Amino acid sequence: MHLLYVLSIAFALSYSAASATTTVEGVKALVERRLPNHTGSFSFAIVNGTASTDTGVSKPNDAFTVSNGVNGTIHVEGNSGIALATGLHWYLSNVAHVDIYWFIGSHLHLAPRPLPRLNNTYLGDSIVPWRYHFNTVTFSYTTAFWTWEDWELQLDWMALRGINLPLAWVGYEKILVDVFREVGFADTDISDFLSGPAFQAWNRFGNLQGSWGPGQLPLSWINSQFELNKKIVARMVELGMKPAMPSFTGFVPPAIYTLYKNATIVNGSAYGYEGLFPRRNTNVTFLSPSNPLFGRMQKSFIAKQKAAYGNVSHIYTLDQYNENVPFSGDLDYLRNISSNTYASLRAADPQAVWMLQGWVFYAARDFWSNTRVETYLSGVEDENMIILDLFSESQPQWQRTNNYFGKPWIWCMLHDFGGSMSLYGQVENSTVNPIQALANESSTMVGMGLTMEGQEGNEVLYDLVLDQAWSSKPIDTTTYFEDWVTSRYGPQLTVPQGLYRAWDIMRQTVYNNTNLTAAISVPKSILELQPNTSVMFDILGHSPDAMLYDHNLLLSAWMHLYSAANDDQSLWQNPAYIFDVTDITRQVLANAFNQLYHAFVTAANVSRNSSTSRTAGQKMLDLLDDLDAVLLSSGQRHFSLSDWIASARAWASPPLLGNNSDTVEPGSPAFGANMSTSQTADYYEYQARNQITIWGPTGQIPDYASKQWAGLVRSYYRKRWELFVEYTLNSTTSPEGVNEGLAVALTEFSLGWCLEKWDDEAGDGSLSAPSDGLAEVVAGVVKRWPSIFS
Ligand SMILES: *[C@@H]1O[C@H](CO)[C@@H](O)[C@H](O)[C@H]1NC(C)=O
Ligand SMILES: *[C@@H]1O[C@H](CO)[C@@H](O)[C@H](O)[C@H]1NC(C)=O
Ligand SMILES: *[C@@H]1O[C@H](CO)[C@@H](O)[C@H](O)[C@H]1NC(C)=O
Ligand SMILES: *[C@@H]1O[C@H](CO)[C@@H](O)[C@H](O)[C@H]1NC(C)=O
Ligand SMILES: *[C@@H]1O[C@H](CO)[C@@H](O)[C@H](O)[C@H]1NC(C)=O
Ligand SMILES: *[C@@H]1O[C@H](CO)[C@@H](O)[C@H](O)[C@H]1NC(C)=O
Ligand SMILES: *[C@@H]1O[C@H](CO)[C@@H](O)[C@H](O)[C@H]1NC(C)=O
Ligand SMILES: *[C@@H]1O[C@H](CO)[C@@H](O)[C@H](O)[C@H]1NC(C)=O
Ligand SMILES: *[C@@H]1O[C@H](CO)[C@@H](O)[C@H](O)[C@H]1NC(C)=O
Ligand SMILES: *[C@@H]1O[C@H](CO)[C@@H](O)[C@H](O)[C@H]1NC(C)=O
Ligand SMILES: *[C@@H]1O[C@H](CO)[C@@H](O)[C@H](O)[C@H]1NC(C)=O
Ligand SMILES: *[C@@H]1O[C@H](CO)[C@@H](O)[C@H](O)[C@H]1NC(C)=O
Repeated sequence: MHLLYVLSIAFALSYSAASATTTVEGVKALVERRLPNHTGSFSFAIVNGTASTDTGVSKPNDAFTVSNGVNGTIHVEGNSGIALATGLHWYLSNVAHVDIYWFIGSHLHLAPRPLPRLNNTYLGDSIVPWRYHFNTVTFSYTTAFWTWEDWELQLDWMALRGINLPLAWVGYEKILVDVFREVGFADTDISDFLSGPAFQAWNRFGNLQGSWGPGQLPLSWINSQFELNKKIVARMVELGMKPAMPSFTGFVPPAIYTLYKNATIVNGSAYGYEGLFPRRNTNVTFLSPSNPLFGRMQKSFIAKQKAAYGNVSHIYTLDQYNENVPFSGDLDYLRNISSNTYASLRAADPQAVWMLQGWVFYAARDFWSNTRVETYLSGVEDENMIILDLFSESQPQWQRTNNYFGKPWIWCMLHDFGGSMSLYGQVENSTVNPIQALANESSTMVGMGLTMEGQEGNEVLYDLVLDQAWSSKPIDTTTYFEDWVTSRYGPQLTVPQGLYRAWDIMRQTVYNNTNLTAAISVPKSILELQPNTSVMFDILGHSPDAMLYDHNLLLSAWMHLYSAANDDQSLWQNPAYIFDVTDITRQVLANAFNQLYHAFVTAANVSRNSSTSRTAGQKMLDLLDDLDAVLLSSGQRHFSLSDWIASARAWASPPLLGNNSDTVEPGSPAFGANMSTSQTADYYEYQARNQITIWGPTGQIPDYASKQWAGLVRSYYRKRWELFVEYTLNSTTSPEGVNEGLAVALTEFSLGWCLEKWDDEAGDGSLSAPSDGLAEVVAGVVKRWPSIFS
């Protein structure tokens, strides 16, 4: 009877004009991509789906059932395309024990044949209609140089985990440039305004303008990114997601002053603080939304965007005050800004919904009093806006703003600033808090999601939050971690107990931070920071020495993990094991470096050039060599500077060039028109190097996006520590004297390093073979450092 009911509904729907969100095609294509030997093993049907093509913010929660189908198939039903993908994922990860992961890729094709049968029908219900993914800056920190293949894996990962509201920023500049040209800006004006490939996020936010380093953003970048996004957006829609599309924000080239003499224009503010960035790179000019020109540009932008991607979404991401303080705090001013901005969206798309990153209300909380927040938000009707509570696990703003004064909002875990790589998480806050927020009577929470600045590790926490969106009670993390481990290393392996033990210890230590004074997000190690003889803090003001967990417990997790491979050598061929043993060894070594640093400073304070201090200094450098060797021999792209640089350089000869006839105004030097392919590649390499090190023309935000990568540890961090040791040992002055001279030398070194070229042949080291002798390298490191590993 149940089956009949299902079939009749599925049949009825196939005759309606179902939108992409209510078809089975996306999940079927996913199965063909990832489980080609299983295309006949699953059947899918949309049931209880709403056929309406668009729904604004309010929509039903997603639901699925998974049951045994006919002829040995597994049958998945759901009320939306994304519900089907989530149902498929439930089966694959919990029953077939295969999954898809960042960095190590898809293991779905390893699903057993025949597929295991179910004992019961499983029912999954989302507790919120929306599951959100991305932060505007993820597009610079993590995905800046991604290929289509990287995106395909990411999008399948997202669909299986139920994400239905992703940001879609790639290629934004193409339409922006067309709109700028249309209203009269010259190519040089536009080209001087756009930022480099690794810094586009902050140009889109109106924090930065222009590029630094040897070159300019070329048209080939703009066009090929646009071509890439056509594929990304089409795939998002096919999988049943609703992309949050960009819009015109009001940030324009300064030539607006001469081009539109009577327009109302606001001089930009300084990013960070006055004097941090050169004025030419910040001070972004803002066209007030009250100008008719603003509406005209918005309309043109959205029309062009629709023409390029189709009518894919009515949700628009739009942030005008992200780390930018409004020109005036006057209440009328704020209300006019938001109401005029929304009016421009509505004129371009009558069903427009404005999505705002709520970070603004946290980052500039001194400016954004509750009255100002309320007034600003009141310029837009509740149902026409959606707010991302961006940092809900540590600094939620929904309580103090009374659920954003009635606006729908999404609970988001931010977790990672700048793509930092340390092990870190808050298992309690990430499970308990969203349930509490939803249970609150006046709650207007409509989603859960992830707003990491960089997607660089600690994947289990991201899975946990996305699964929490399908559980009305806080998830029991004990069984959750167990199940996660089973499918991570499976399915061809009987997972050794040691791996379960290791992850359970990490669950209670690195993943259970409860001291938010010590670290509100992923911390850094001293080795990544600019050397200095006095106490060091990261850019968020946290001490890398804060004891977030007992290091001995992490070491015992490492022991369990490592000795599991003594019992089962085949683990050294298991991609998940290779990744995890590298990652956790990395953390153990990084923690140990903090001790070596303090030992050196102590010894040097007693006697500058004693053999004790020389030995202590050498130890720091030796440890960095060993860390680099472990990362390199893992053969993991994710731990490799060489990979980051190669991906950047590859865009100089883009695979998807798109409209080649789009050229620069004749004779204009704009858009790097005179750059050769190799100069373009060098420019991209500079961009890639600059972001992860000095972040800015001359070191404005140093080490904010630091990475513990093979190649970076050796060629950058180790060189800095070498200078540090040398300066300290040679110095006859006070520590302050050392730091002064040292700072000059370090700056000179860093600026030069950004202009270097990676050279695999000269022994810079690329990813040779996958996992090139990792077992031997780790064994050697363990032997050399009994003080750390016992
Ligand atoms: C569809 O609705 C029926 C009746 O309410 C319910 O029993 C079934 O579980 C629903 N199926 C899905 C996949 O939501
Ligand atoms: C099940 O398998 C049999 C034998 O292969 C076939 O005749 C039948 O059509 C299949 N049923 C369905 C619903 O696919
Ligand atoms: C599909 O099955 C064939 C035959 O068993 C096997 O050789 C092939 O590797 C499988 N393909 C995938 C993607 O698993
Ligand atoms: C079904 O039940 C059997 C017997 O209790 C059990 O061994 C098997 O793991 C169960 N299958 C699933 C998918 O839960
Ligand atoms: C900021 O930009 C505006 C508009 O181009 C310009 O008039 C002003 O001089 C700039 N401010 C500074 C301090 O450079
Ligand atoms: C500038 O002002 C003039 C005179 O008031 C008006 O005709 C014109 O439309 C305005 N231009 C813009 C771009 O607002
Ligand atoms: C913008 O900056 C310029 C130069 O500092 C100044 O002359 C002008 O008055 C400013 N305009 C506004 C609207 O503040
Ligand atoms: C988008 O929808 C509008 C009406 O809703 C229609 O006129 C237009 O042709 C559509 N555009 C595209 C690109 O499908
Ligand atoms: C996390 O730490 C808190 C406070 O110490 C403790 O109450 C809680 O049980 C811990 N949770 C886990 C999963 O270890
Ligand atoms: C997160 O957890 C910590 C410690 O467990 C607690 O002090 C803090 O208030 C929690 N944060 C939120 C937003 O609930
Ligand atoms: C939290 O960390 C801060 C800074 O490291 C420290 O001063 C404080 O004692 C810690 N609190 C607890 C409860 O451990
Ligand atoms: C430190 O002293 C050695 C030996 O005198 C010298 O070669 C080296 O250049 C000095 N280094 C620095 C950074 O001053």
